[in-house]
Amino acid sequence: MIPRYAERLLPGTWCVVVCCVVAFAALGCGKSPVENAPVQPVAFSHKVHAGANGLDCQFCHAYARRSPVAGIPSLQRCHGCHRPMIAAKTEATATKAEVQKVMDFVEKKEPIPWVRVYILPDHVYFSHRVHVQAEVRCQTCHGQVETMERVSQVAPLTMGWCVDCHREQNASRDCLVCHK
Ligand code: HEC
Ligand code: HEC
Ligand code: HEC
Ligand code: HEC
Ligand code: HEC
Repeated sequence: MIPRYAERLLPGTWCVVVCCVVAFAALGCGKSPVENAPVQPVAFSHKVHAGANGLDCQFCHAYARRSPVAGIPSLQRCHGCHRPMIAAKTEATATKAEVQKVMDFVEKKEPIPWVRVYILPDHVYFSHRVHVQAEVRCQTCHGQVETMERVSQVAPLTMGWCVDCHREQNASRDCLVCHK
């Protein structure tokens, strides 16, 4: 037999358990990574370029090795490959409309207004050069970009994220290194 006091306690306890489960579920949802994968003005696919066609990341992001920014390739880069492909009619029909958008920008002499994915606040200093030279792979921070149709952010870019890796890899954790 359940003692009287326990009988009274039971509904209350049950309620607490349910509340906890609900609260944990809600917290869990809140913590799921925010999807940051902006739609781009041209549906440029890393899966096609860096995956299927095996182009090296630094072929297009050529400044990464020597400067703070990695750099986005110019229209001339795109044009250099795509104009001969159009002339030779080697493109798949499905890709023509998007490639035509690229050619329209060439025609208008306007750069493609790509939407930035990875952005740090202004008060933080970051440099690709030191990381590339320390042989930290692009994928360590940006994920398997060569499998992405559209770039999506995989790292949180929080201070904790930077400092955790600096601790593991024995890099500087001096405040003034990242906050100049
Ligand atoms: C053919 C050229 C080309 C190659 C090769 C290439 N990229 Fe890109 N990448 C671009 C262009 C164009 C953009 C801007 C449009 C976009 O975000 O998809 C970009 C955007 C990015 C971005 C997002 C930048 C931001 O914050 O807005 C990352 C990260 C990136 N590339 C990493 C890589 C990595 C890693 C590789 C190698 C696996 C690679 N790229 C290979 C052309 C290229
Ligand atoms: C240690 C982490 C890390 C590594 C390694 C890294 N990146 Fe980045 N990347 C970042 C961060 C952080 C930003 C945002 C920088 C900012 O807003 O100032 C960024 C921004 C970018 C951008 C957009 C802005 C720009 O610099 O042009 C591109 C493109 C990019 N990365 C490509 C690459 C490629 C390609 C590689 C490998 C050669 C690479 N990244 C390696 C962390 C990294
Ligand atoms: C080294 C050569 C090369 C460069 C540089 C290049 N591309 Fe491509 N691109 C290709 C190839 C190969 C395909 C696949 C064509 C096909 O399957 O019909 C492709 C396909 C595409 C497509 C069709 C959609 C898709 O994903 O299949 C678009 C859009 C595109 N490229 C845009 C760009 C832009 C924008 C740039 C410059 C940032 C660029 N390309 C630079 C070789 C290149
Ligand atoms: C995956 C590991 C990793 C991540 C993530 C990372 N770093 Fe680094 N960082 C390194 C390594 C390795 C070095 C090079 C250490 C060396 O050569 O002494 C370095 C060096 C640096 C330097 C130069 C330090 C000096 O002594 O001059 C700066 C600045 C820096 N990182 C900023 C950042 C910022 C800001 C972030 C986050 C947005 C970040 N890093 C994220 C691994 C990382
Ligand atoms: C390896 C790079 C790195 C180092 C070292 C570092 N920070 Fe940061 N810090 C960041 C990044 C990235 C951000 C922005 C992201 C964020 O707010 O989490 C940031 C943000 C901050 C902010 C603003 C927080 C906010 O809520 O806006 C303060 C304050 C700060 N850092 C203080 C410090 C102090 C003090 C130290 C030394 C004990 C330090 N940081 C060392 C990378 C670094």
